[in-house]
Amino acid sequence: MLNLRVAAVNHLPLFVTIPLLTSRSFNCIVNSVYPLKMNYKSLLPLILLLSCTLWNADAQSYQDPQHHSCLKCHSNQSYSFKNEITGKMVKRLMNPYYILDTIAISAAVHKQFDCTDCHSGEYKAYPHKSELKLQPLSSCLDCHGGDASYAKYKFEEIEREFKKSVHYKVYGENFTCSKCHSQHTYVATARTSSNVLDIVDYNNKMCLSCHNDMKKYKLVSGHDNPKLIVIHDWLPNQELHFRHVRCIECHTEVKDSLMVSHNILSKDRAVKKCAECHSANSKLKASLYKYQNLQKRSENGTISSILTNSSYTIGTHQSPILKLVSILIFLALLSGIIIHSLFRIFKK
Ligand code: HEC
Ligand code: HEC
Ligand code: HEC
Ligand code: HEC
Ligand code: HEC
Ligand code: HEC
Ligand code: HEC
Repeated sequence: MLNLRVAAVNHLPLFVTIPLLTSRSFNCIVNSVYPLKMNYKSLLPLILLLSCTLWNADAQSYQDPQHHSCLKCHSNQSYSFKNEITGKMVKRLMNPYYILDTIAISAAVHKQFDCTDCHSGEYKAYPHKSELKLQPLSSCLDCHGGDASYAKYKFEEIEREFKKSVHYKVYGENFTCSKCHSQHTYVATARTSSNVLDIVDYNNKMCLSCHNDMKKYKLVSGHDNPKLIVIHDWLPNQELHFRHVRCIECHTEVKDSLMVSHNILSKDRAVKKCAECHSANSKLKASLYKYQNLQKRSENGTISSILTNSSYTIGTHQSPILKLVSILIFLALLSGIIIHSLFRIFKK
């Protein structure tokens, strides 16, 4: 028994390294080396590579926030720390912007990372050093740019489109991808979800987290946020619309090569015409309803998918089968009436 345990301890490095090499650290190393060729101006991947090899020593689970060295503070309303001068424990309220949603993190694409893979290891000490705030963090493109394994997401094309958008035009590099995409909680819903309402909800929260948040909006722009309800008062059933269509449906042009169009147009180019959506060739067919995962669902049968579709839009879903059925019913009814009348005529 003891021997077994000794053997296990002796081989611990092996047990630890093999699974890790095959899993996330390997991924991480590959992903950090690869962009080096493309993105040599940036040293960030190299730093990441170093941290990748070191990090696994204390990989921790997001499932158990109370025992996580960061989340014990960053997932709670309040936190405590030892005051170095008085030696006493102090309890304070956490800034709500620094409270992270651990459930959303555990479901996100970067759930394999430790906090200190992206943030400096010096954050392990509290109070955090103030200069840590100024350290640059990797952008999506630093890690994903030029990487063939993520080609289907078209990161480079997204960046080009984003650079045409109103946000980039006004704020330049200060408006990063992370302003919309939290690296903590990012999930590609349009690609992975088969529920339109979930996709809409996830997407619109990105925009609303800033456009409906006075503080956050002001931090970016320096002025108050225009009230969305007032701006869109021409739209009937506003709440219903915001639950069933994404902001980007009206605020971007459809771009066939991209799953999600990233060029937010200026407000005078926004969609205001009802018929753009409420018509047979609705704009939504090329945007919100275009996704493969949704199409796959509709392969079950056009009628059933229309009847069960949680977001049936008047005029949009015109099914040839339904049309045929209604014509048949109409013809049957018509012939019924004719036969009935003929009988009456001949009986007389
Ligand atoms: C004792 C509680 C506590 C612990 C543990 C803690 N933090 Fe913090 N953290 C805070 C507080 C409070 C702030 C708000 C700013 C401040 O007071 O310094 C903060 C701010 C931050 C910020 C925002 C930027 C900045 O520098 O202000 C980041 C990023 C951060 N923490 C990351 C981490 C990481 C990563 C860990 C784990 C390695 C961690 N923190 C552990 C309490 C904590
Ligand atoms: C994949 C990289 C990545 C990982 C992993 C990561 N962060 Fe962050 N974090 C970022 C980036 C990028 C920002 C800056 C967001 C921005 O520009 O507004 C940030 C911002 C923050 C902030 C400031 C508040 C905010 O949300 O903007 C805190 C606090 C923070 N991170 C804590 C953590 C903790 C705690 C963990 C581990 C549970 C963690 N981070 C894991 C990339 C990461
Ligand atoms: C520090 C490097 C780093 C940064 C910054 C980063 N990612 Fe990632 N990302 C990764 C790695 C590594 C994986 C693979 C994780 C895995 O396989 O578990 C990944 C996975 C993903 C995936 C899932 C890919 C797939 O098909 O499985 C998407 C989508 C994604 N990231 C998007 C983004 C976006 C959007 C941003 C910016 C907001 C971003 N990433 C920032 C390193 C990064
Ligand atoms: C104004 C907000 C906004 C900004 C800024 C933004 N995005 Fe997005 N992005 C979105 C929305 C909304 C989606 C759709 C999310 C979903 O449902 O998958 C999306 C989706 C994505 C996807 C998934 C696309 C797919 O094919 O599944 C990637 C990758 C992405 N963004 C990368 C980026 C990168 C890189 C940047 C910075 C150059 C960026 N985004 C800036 C709003 C934004
Ligand atoms: C049905 C189409 C539609 C939808 C959905 C929609 N918008 Fe708009 N939005 C418009 C139009 C049209 C305008 C221009 C209104 C005008 O100038 O009278 C506009 C204006 C705006 C403006 C400019 C405000 C100003 O005057 O400076 C912002 C910001 C905005 N929308 C954000 C959003 C956000 C965020 C969402 C999602 C919650 C959203 N919109 C959803 C059509 C839409
Ligand atoms: C981090 C904050 C933030 C996020 C997230 C954000 N925006 Fe904005 N947006 C702004 C600010 C600030 C402006 C004002 C720009 C200016 O001064 O002209 C703006 C302007 C706009 C405008 C008006 C453009 C004009 O012509 O005046 C539209 C439309 C818009 N945003 C739509 C969106 C949509 C759609 C999303 C989500 C996909 C989104 N925004 C996400 C901060 C944000
Ligand atoms: C971006 C696409 C889009 C635009 C533009 C748009 N709508 Fe809608 N509209 C929808 C969707 C999607 C629904 C949700 C359908 C449903 O599930 O009930 C909806 C629902 C409605 C409903 C409610 C129907 C019901 O079942 O209660 C009315 C009324 C409506 N729209 C009228 C309008 C009018 C009037 C305009 C123009 C001022 C307009 N819409 C512009 C997409 C749009």
